Order: sequence, then structure tokens, then C-alpha cells
Amino acid sequence: MDMNANQVEAIVKQVLSSLSAGNVTAGSSASAGNGTVPKTAHVAMLTSLEHFDIKEYPIPEVGDDDILVRVEGCGICGTDAHEFKRDPFGLIPVALGHEGTGEIVKMGKNVKTDSAGKPVKLGDKVVTCMIFKDNPDITMYDLNRQNVGGADVYGLLPDDDVHLNGWFSDYIFIRGGSTFFNVSDLDLDSRILIEPCAVLVHAVERAKSTGILRFNSRVVVQGCGPIGLICIAILHTMGIGNIIAVDGNAGRLEFAKRLGASDSVNFKDYNGVEAMAEGVKEKFQGHLADFAFQCTGSPAGHSNIYKFIRNGGGLCELGFFINGGDATINPHFDICSKEITTVGSWVYTLRDYATTFEFLKSAKAIGLPMGELITDKYPLSQINEAYRKNLAMTGLKIAVLPD
Ligand SMILES: NC(=O)c1ccc[n+]([C@@H]2O[C@H](COP(=O)([O-])OP(=O)(O)OC[C@H]3O[C@@H](n4cnc5c(N)ncnc54)[C@H](O)[C@@H]3O)[C@@H](O)[C@H]2O)c1
Ligand SMILES: [Zn+2]
Repeated sequence: MDMNANQVEAIVKQVLSSLSAGNVTAGSSASAGNGTVPKTAHVAMLTSLEHFDIKEYPIPEVGDDDILVRVEGCGICGTDAHEFKRDPFGLIPVALGHEGTGEIVKMGKNVKTDSAGKPVKLGDKVVTCMIFKDNPDITMYDLNRQNVGGADVYGLLPDDDVHLNGWFSDYIFIRGGSTFFNVSDLDLDSRILIEPCAVLVHAVERAKSTGILRFNSRVVVQGCGPIGLICIAILHTMGIGNIIAVDGNAGRLEFAKRLGASDSVNFKDYNGVEAMAEGVKEKFQGHLADFAFQCTGSPAGHSNIYKFIRNGGGLCELGFFINGGDATINPHFDICSKEITTVGSWVYTLRDYATTFEFLKSAKAIGLPMGELITDKYPLSQINEAYRKNLAMTGLKIAVLPD
């Protein structure tokens, strides 16, 4: 009997020890990336004008409030291109990339929810956001004053001893208190497009504030770069069916139709702005536009657009993220006697981010080819080539993906 009792005890011990060994294995695999995270990360550092070096840095210890993200991709923004060419913010050496997304591979024990209160866990897909609080009045000027130097504007931070501060990298270190969102329910292309889409969600909100933009409005969108194209996709997703795209690039105008424009006006087919206005009128069966979005950075584009808008109509000017020079208008004919309501739109607010996630889901559900806005994908090791492609302006959105 004693022997048997000893045997039973031995067997129980053996089973228990194999169970706990099993638990250890299960535990480490449940913590996903934790076991597979390398010791170092690769970061594209802009070390001089028009030149990135791929640097390797140790991945810091993840504190109780921090998150380590394995990068999946990041879009090149117009701001990045300015920084690449001229370093207007005086940040060199800098880890750029703010239109990025990736997967949580490690996080501190205090990290339970994203900035919107949505729960987060290992393996979730996230984006960071430039705006650190939900203040609809905030402008880029405030951001530059208050936020750069904090831990929020990843991709435009001065270099520090962490180094993993931009999305053009294979790992990014999100410090406690940063603004980030769980966007696991969006595919990779949609996640890369969140930031530029938020610009247009904001512009459409500004447009709606005039009370003129309605479901049955006739809308002109002038400029079919990424900004104008996304504008068309959002209007279409909202149910606005009467949209004319204006540009001089036939390929972009064709894409505009696939994203929801009902017709297009190629300015190369018309001699002068009066003729173009007649062209718009013809496409709207004898009417001018109720509302127009100005999505070019061209002063001539601003001067022209009033001619396409009916008396009592509205305009959203969003094409001048930076100073593009002065534009001439005739205040009597263009604004005063026509009683045009004009709004400007710049960047976005946190609230627009939440709307953007919903827009991207709706766009996918109705089959809009949003992913085709990303015309080129470059590996991180070819980031200099990616930027040159961006400056050549022969694609639409250029993305950089880890090697
Ligand atoms: N408001 C914001 O917060 C915000 C944010 C990002 C970008 N932007 C601005 O939006 C603008 C557009 O951005 P993008 O990335 O689409 O640029 P882009 O250069 O790729 O596209 C501009 C398009 O406008 C067309 N165009 C130029 N002049 C024209 C004219 N006179 N009439 C009709 N079409 C004309 C071009 O052919 C081109 O297709 C930029 O100037 C940028 O500064 C604003
Ligand atoms: Zn940007």
C-alpha cells in the first residue's frame, strides 16, 4: 500500500509538473510577440537633407504604461516630403512617418484601453494620432507649439535616447499618455489611409456646417490628387450622387469616377475659366454647383472655383495646407453679389478620427477601390527611392513597409 501511495504521489507530482511546464509554454505563446521580439529595431533616420540612413537601435524596456508596436506600413505625407527636402521644423536627425500602423507586440500592465476607451490586447492593430485632446478648436499652430516635444506626434519628434519615434521603422515605441487607437477591424491599406482620410472627414464636417451641403446637392470637387479623390469617396459614401470632378489629368479623372464622381471636367478641354464654368453647367443639366471643394494647392484653382458655384452656394477651401501664394478674385462678382458661404478646413480633430474609421469600413462595404489610392509600396531599405517617387508626383499615395 505504501509503495502504491508513493507511486501515486510520484505520478501526481509528475502530472503537476508537466501541467505547469505546459502552462509556461501556453503562457509565452499567448503573449504573442513577446517571445519573438528582437533585441534591436531598424529605424529610417533622416540624417541630412534628402537622405535617410537605416539605423539599428536597441529596443528599450517596455514600462507599465508603454506599448511596443511591430510596424506593418506607413504612408508618405506631404509634410514628410517638405521635411525631406528642406527640414522646415529643424528636426534632423529625425525618425519620420506619422501615417503608420502596426501590431501591439508588448505592452505595460497599465495599458488596458486606447484613447477612445476601447479595450486593447496583444496582437491588436493600432494607429497613433497627431491630436492629443478632443478640442474641436485646436489648430496645427497650437499643435506645433504644445505637442511637438511631447510624446504624441510620432514621426515629427526630435530624436532622443529612445530613437524609435517614427513609423518608418520596423518597431515603434509608444510611450504612456500618447494618443492611439485600436483599429483591428480595418485592413492594412485602410489603416495606412486613416490620416489623409481624416483631413477630408474634417473638410466635409466644415462643409456641412454651412447648411448648404445636402444629399441632393450638386457638388464640384476640384483637384484629383489623393485629397480630392478621398473627398469624392467620402461624399459618395454619404449618399451624395451628383459629383463633378475637375482636373487636367485624365487618368485621375477616370479614377475619380470609380470612387464616386458622376462626371468629370478636364480643364485641358476648355479654353478659359468661363468655358469651364459652362462645361460644369452642361454636366449638371444647366445648373452650377450648390457646393464646391477646392482641393488643389494652385492659386489659379482658388480664383477659378467661384465661377462654378451658383448664387447662394458654398465653398470649402482646403487646398492650401502650406502657403501657396496669393490668389486673385473679384469680391463683387465672386462672393458678395453671389452670397457665397465659404469655410476653410485644416487638419482634423480627434472626433474626426472616429468618423474616419467608420467611413473606411463603409467604403469597403460598398466596394470602393480605396486601396488603389496606394499606388506604390517600397521596402524600408528603399525609403530614399520611395521619397524620390513621392517627389516625382507620378503616383498617388506612396507607402513604406518593413523589409
Ligand atoms: N487642409 C488640410 O489640412 C490639408 C491636408 C493635406 C493636404 N492639403 C492640401 O491639399 C492639396 C492637394 O493635395 P494632394 O495630395 O491631393 O495634391 P496633388 O498635388 O497630388 O493633387 C493636386 C491635383 O490638383 C490638380 N490641379 C492643379 N491645378 C489645378 C487647377 N487649376 N484646376 C484643377 N485641377 C488642378 C493637379 O492636376 C492634381 O491632380 C495640397 O495643396 C495640400 O497642401 C490640405
Ligand atoms: Zn500627414
